[in-house]
Amino acid sequence: MDTSITVPIIRDWKKSDKTRRIVMVTAYDFSGAKIVDDAGADIILVGDSLGMVMLGYPDTLSVTIDDMVRHTSAVTRARPKAMVVADLPWMTYHLSQKDTIQNAAALIRAGASAVKLEGGVKRGEMIDALIDSEIPVMGHLGLTPQSVNITGGYKVQARETSAAQSLVSDAKFLDDHGCFAVVLEAIPLGLARQVTAELSVPTIGIGAGPQCDGQVLVYHDLLGLIPGNQPRFVRQYGNLYDQATKAIETFISDVHEGRFPGLDESYGSS
Ligand code: KIV
Repeated sequence: MDTSITVPIIRDWKKSDKTRRIVMVTAYDFSGAKIVDDAGADIILVGDSLGMVMLGYPDTLSVTIDDMVRHTSAVTRARPKAMVVADLPWMTYHLSQKDTIQNAAALIRAGASAVKLEGGVKRGEMIDALIDSEIPVMGHLGLTPQSVNITGGYKVQARETSAAQSLVSDAKFLDDHGCFAVVLEAIPLGLARQVTAELSVPTIGIGAGPQCDGQVLVYHDLLGLIPGNQPRFVRQYGNLYDQATKAIETFISDVHEGRFPGLDESYGSS
């Protein structure tokens, strides 16, 4: 890869006194990766959110390792300067160390520099196995979408004291076990501030307030590519759904009315 951002750069971000926040944006294909990379993101996340925004599933649980490999390959063919991290989908790091390492290796062979997985202490054995196999791991705590059937929906997590304490323990566990960064999703901002202060590695927040070491948003959410209500933590920086619909409506009426193609968009005989 041509990447100029590496795992050690992200892992040591705080120690090397980088005050600038890390920016991670999801992308799932070649053109999306080009846009995110040319805009200057530090990390491209090939998130299993692709199940919802690219494949139309109601949640991330149907995403397979083959889906992730195909989309990770498409992203890395854009040869981004940003570091590419790929999600291990549900049930690809739960069964055995061997299975976990093989699935993660498939994502690394597709061009990712690291994998992301959801959960803390209970994923310890698999995290150790991956790092022993030289595969860098990004953690993900708080709202973990692969647990939707346990949590009963996409809600803010760790509001109660005991859940907050166990999130802090999980975060420290991930740090101690060698994760190079931790995503904190949909947790109270005070808790995210505390975790960020206590970890040696960066936190990357989504719905976790302004005091994380970095921020991540989903490509389709920040560009306004899907109509409808968005969670409170999404800021839409564009409204590409409306722009794209209008562009295609205009094309359709131009064809209907004989305005497209013009002569300058047609070939002569010589
Ligand atoms: O799959 C994804 O897009 C993610 C981000 C929301 C962090 O995990």
